[in-house]
Amino acid sequence: MRFDVITLFPELVAAVTESGVTGRAAEHGLLDVRYWNPRDYTTDRHRTVDDRPYGGGPGMVMKVEPLRRCLSAVREQTDIRSKVICLSPQGRLLTQAAVDAFSREPGLILIAGRYEGIDERFISADVDEEWSIGDYVLSGGELAAMVVMDAVTRLLPGALGHSESATQDSFAEGLLDCPHYTRPEQVGEQAIPKVLLQGDHAAIARWRRQQALGRTWERRPDLFKALALSDQDNALLQNYLNERDKTDS
Ligand code: ADE
Repeated sequence: MRFDVITLFPELVAAVTESGVTGRAAEHGLLDVRYWNPRDYTTDRHRTVDDRPYGGGPGMVMKVEPLRRCLSAVREQTDIRSKVICLSPQGRLLTQAAVDAFSREPGLILIAGRYEGIDERFISADVDEEWSIGDYVLSGGELAAMVVMDAVTRLLPGALGHSESATQDSFAEGLLDCPHYTRPEQVGEQAIPKVLLQGDHAAIARWRRQQALGRTWERRPDLFKALALSDQDNALLQNYLNERDKTDS
């Protein structure tokens, strides 16, 4: 998978390939990440990449020409027809389904904006899709680009140690993940759920599914609404809620 990242702060984004799953993927050649700085595509002495907004108001706006020249340089350097993705709070909200679709692309060009935003003419003419990582404002799109790179990389075949891991992630089935425990069995007063110790794999699978359903019901009604539950799921959830109500009272 190739990522071309257009950013004024390549050294910030480069941390992605320095450690963890993404670092290992880069090391093994699953990831090919290149950085492009719009400042290198300016023509004036001050290497200007931004200017004041027409109509007045606070902040600065990223200029069209350095970005457009930078993007042309990326295109000239590769035959891969990567989609151009701009990260901004105005984009559609990133979901696991979107990340999944990204992971099937041969490459992505990620544009991290800074300042008050990017001149809309660049976005309308040169950008294929605009995505946001959440309803809050970051100082720039770099962290969002890193989020996309990380989430996509863990779906690439061979990126994770266990081939199963990504299929069991939160959201893989539209559910939050179940709780996890590791040794020791007892930490002070805190024990682990007995079912996890009894070696009954069907019972463990049922318990995990029940926890995932229960947590999604409690914490994420928006996700829960989109689920199509089987009769068995409904029974598991009912049981979870009954147990919960018992311990509450
Ligand atoms: N740039 C600034 N805030 C952002 C957000 N929430 N998502 C994506 N890019 C951003």
